[in-house]
Amino acid sequence: MDNEIARLKGALIEAQRVAVLTGAGISAESGVPTFRGEGGLWRKYRSQELATPEAFAANPGLAWEFYNWRRSLINDVEYNPAHKALAELEEKVPRFTLISQNVDGLHLRAGSKNLLEIHGNIWKVRCTRCGKIAVDFTPDLGTSPRCKDCKGLLRPHVVWFGENLDHDILQAALDASMKCDVMLVIGTSAMVQPSASFPVEAKSKGALVAEINIESTPLSSYADITLLGKAGDIVPRLVDNWH
Ligand code: OAD
Repeated sequence: MDNEIARLKGALIEAQRVAVLTGAGISAESGVPTFRGEGGLWRKYRSQELATPEAFAANPGLAWEFYNWRRSLINDVEYNPAHKALAELEEKVPRFTLISQNVDGLHLRAGSKNLLEIHGNIWKVRCTRCGKIAVDFTPDLGTSPRCKDCKGLLRPHVVWFGENLDHDILQAALDASMKCDVMLVIGTSAMVQPSASFPVEAKSKGALVAEINIESTPLSSYADITLLGKAGDIVPRLVDNWH
């Protein structure tokens, strides 16, 4: 693995453009549960079952209990060495884009700047009546939070299964993927579209694709480099002693 890390680091040092795709696994060491696998359950529900417009329409109170639980949990955790290392990497390479599927905001807290939060941010709420978006850091918003303007029911401003990504953000993510020299794919099961296609786009345009995950994923056989291990152990090694 040392050789592979050295090879990847060499490619990062040479790169003009670097794109990074992160998933729930990068926040696992901070204590944020991932969606699939261990820790993916809340009460008797799989997290994905509640992150849908249908679940919210059927029982907004239950959906809000789930999100209040996640908000409270995220409020109490810190970013970890992998988040920090990506913020440092951004300072080192000429053009850097971080594409995250995570809604926890930990990349922002760690200092990342050019960040595309393609699934939204858990600290934002959106009115289901007037569409107004607001930021609210109160961990528990209760089971029926209301819009300050029109009193409509609020929902989390995150992208749920079956919903479209913001068009401009998706375009920017695709653009970064297709133009990068190196793409890092960190802590994602690579099972959810369109994110899973970003590394495929990158590789088809000639980029070196490197995956960092504790286990193999559908992307592993496709990636040029697969580093099996914890993001918090491996990502800092890519930026240590840069030259
Ligand atoms: P998943 O929960 O599907 O996958 C997490 C991945 O992180 C798995 O492949 C784990 O092996 C890996 N992992 C766990 N701990 C790790 C560690 N310490 N270091 C490195 N890797 C680790 O999460 P996502 O791929 O992010 O969407 O899921 C994608 C989307 O599906 C989410 O954004 C969410 C979800 O439902 C929406 O809510 C729209």
